[in-house]
Amino acid sequence: MSVKELQVVNFRNLASDKLSLHSDLNFLIGDNGSGKSSLLESLFYLGHGKSFRTSRVESLIQNDFDFFIISVKSDDNTQLGIQRNSLGESKIKINGVLSSKLSDLAKNIAVQIVTPESFKLFFGGPKERRKFVDLGLFHVEHSFSNEWKLFQRTYKQRNACLRTKQGLELLDYWTEEFSRLSENIARLRNSYIEQLKVELKIWLKIMLPSCSDVISIQYLQGWNSKKELKTILDENRYRELEKGYSLYGAQKFDIRFLIDNASIEHRLSRGQQKLFLLALTFAQSKLIEQVKRIKPILLIDDIGAELDHSSRQAMFRANQQLNCQTIISAIDRVALEPLIPDDNNYNMFHVKHGQIKAMIE
Ligand SMILES: Nc1ncnc2c1ncn2[C@@H]1O[C@H](COP(=O)(O)OP(=O)(O)OP(=O)(O)O)[C@@H](O)[C@H]1O
Ligand SMILES: [Mg+2]
Repeated sequence: MSVKELQVVNFRNLASDKLSLHSDLNFLIGDNGSGKSSLLESLFYLGHGKSFRTSRVESLIQNDFDFFIISVKSDDNTQLGIQRNSLGESKIKINGVLSSKLSDLAKNIAVQIVTPESFKLFFGGPKERRKFVDLGLFHVEHSFSNEWKLFQRTYKQRNACLRTKQGLELLDYWTEEFSRLSENIARLRNSYIEQLKVELKIWLKIMLPSCSDVISIQYLQGWNSKKELKTILDENRYRELEKGYSLYGAQKFDIRFLIDNASIEHRLSRGQQKLFLLALTFAQSKLIEQVKRIKPILLIDDIGAELDHSSRQAMFRANQQLNCQTIISAIDRVALEPLIPDDNNYNMFHVKHGQIKAMIE
């Protein structure tokens, strides 16, 4: 499935015209403040139920309105829509039928984004890396979503026991559950990362060939993998009670990328870091595409930032081998140059003051 038609109502500065997207490749060009990121944000919102740049719903609703709607029609005529109002209430519709769960939307659409900020966040701390891997797992490993929900509930209950120091007899129960679920999640993540490693090598060979053989991946499951989590928690019970939260477990997971035992952000230039993150995102998209019947959607905001001509050429070669629906934004056509195929098999849009017009090339 790819998105054939997108319509937004009262979203940021965007006009509510229907937009017909190409099933493989789309370009957006427009000046600063025209609405390019907002358009990508609307698709991201549909896939994730949140924005990649704000947690304030009021920022997303167009000035002077009190709700927004984002809806898409796919090439197989599936219709997905989300409406959100200024009170934070959401309505989700799938083929006209109301649904209460955001995850129902995400079953139908897999959206990934790379922005000029995302590699700074990605290399800045474990939170973004966790989010990245878990997004892939959500789409690729069916049991993950349920295990993760159970884990989060248990994690909260266990932390409440540790914080309040009441119901210490319950702590034993929650520790047992917490350990069991953490071990399950670690197993799923571990097997997913093994697949990601293989796939990443393929995309690095195309996009960053000098690095493909020297980058190694370190998987940190959240506790010393030589021991059972339950044993570690028993050994650290008093320390955890003192702190009032869980010090070990699946919530502490991280994935690190190394060259000669140093984190790659200390070894690669900013442009190379961006290429690395693109290769990783392509690898993840490929895994999603292999498992799900839907075609992943890849949003790349402001491609010109940080990437020179030959890096964009490398990205073009990679993108041609990927079965994704891609939308790439840039300030002008020059920044897109090496990415535009000669065969005219793409859509190009011009964004001006929130109005999006298809350009005849
Ligand atoms: N809630 C809102 N209502 C109306 N307009 C908004 C709202 N939020 C943001 N805007 C405006 O929308 C415009 C589009 O912003 P956006 O970030 O999409 O631009 P852009 O094309 O990505 O620009 P750049 O090239 O600088 O990244 C901005 O001028 C911004 O002031
Ligand atoms: Mg922008």
